Amino acid sequence: MTAAVSAVRKPVTLHRLREMHAQGDKITMLTAYDATFARLVDEAGVDCILVGDSLGMIVQGHGSTIPVSLEDMVYHTRCVARGNRSAWIVGDLPFGSYQESREEALRACVALMQAGAHMVKLEGGGWTAETVHFLTERGVPVCAHLGLTPQSVHALGGYRIQGRDEAGAATLRKHATELAQAGAAMMVLELMPSAVAAQVQADNPGMMTIGIGAGSQTAGQVLVLHDMLNITRGKLPRFVRNFAAEGGSADDAIRRYVAAVKDGSFPDEAVHAY
Ligand code: KIV
Repeated sequence: MTAAVSAVRKPVTLHRLREMHAQGDKITMLTAYDATFARLVDEAGVDCILVGDSLGMIVQGHGSTIPVSLEDMVYHTRCVARGNRSAWIVGDLPFGSYQESREEALRACVALMQAGAHMVKLEGGGWTAETVHFLTERGVPVCAHLGLTPQSVHALGGYRIQGRDEAGAATLRKHATELAQAGAAMMVLELMPSAVAAQVQADNPGMMTIGIGAGSQTAGQVLVLHDMLNITRGKLPRFVRNFAAEGGSADDAIRRYVAAVKDGSFPDEAVHAY
């Protein structure tokens, strides 16, 4: 095995991410679940690595993220932290690790942050605002997650676009503002019309919104690494661009992703948005 040679960049911090957002520099995020891919993603210059609970489907072969445990997330966060040098690591709180009480949520955050996460992500609006406030007051940087929240797939009736009607869009905007006021610094917006994501960003200018299937008007973009490399079998969702299609190595594909998000050519509203 050869060691990759690359210039070491300065560690990405929350302060740096906020500066980037203030300057209109798009934030890039990709998932990684192990040290090898974390190294590739980091060395390609991706700003944030998401240790997503999508590992339940991608790594563990489940049909949803629901079976993923806190122990699983701690294990994969440790692996990613070992491979990473500079990227900001966001760790997912899995289903069942933060719903019961704020204290339980804090214990789960401690486990993920001691494993190497710099920030934790939790899904949902409404009741989560109180938990987000509790966590941020105690020094835990929080990324919220609205729209299609995969841990609620059964309650939502499937992997459907959220906020399509006026009432749904209004609820998303209300929840986003509550979460911003509760102290969330970042917010994944998944599978919603571009116009709704753009409104959420406009309502909360300081919030670093990170879109996936939410159009081009968010502060940044995230994709599941295995999707953008086209190594997940089956039809890719509309919002995914196959960055491996143009050839070259996985590193090349990841660098193309970074360049396309930064120059605004991905996502393309005509192709990847709703
Ligand atoms: O778990 C995950 O990979 C995620 C992304 C789809 C945003 O939450």
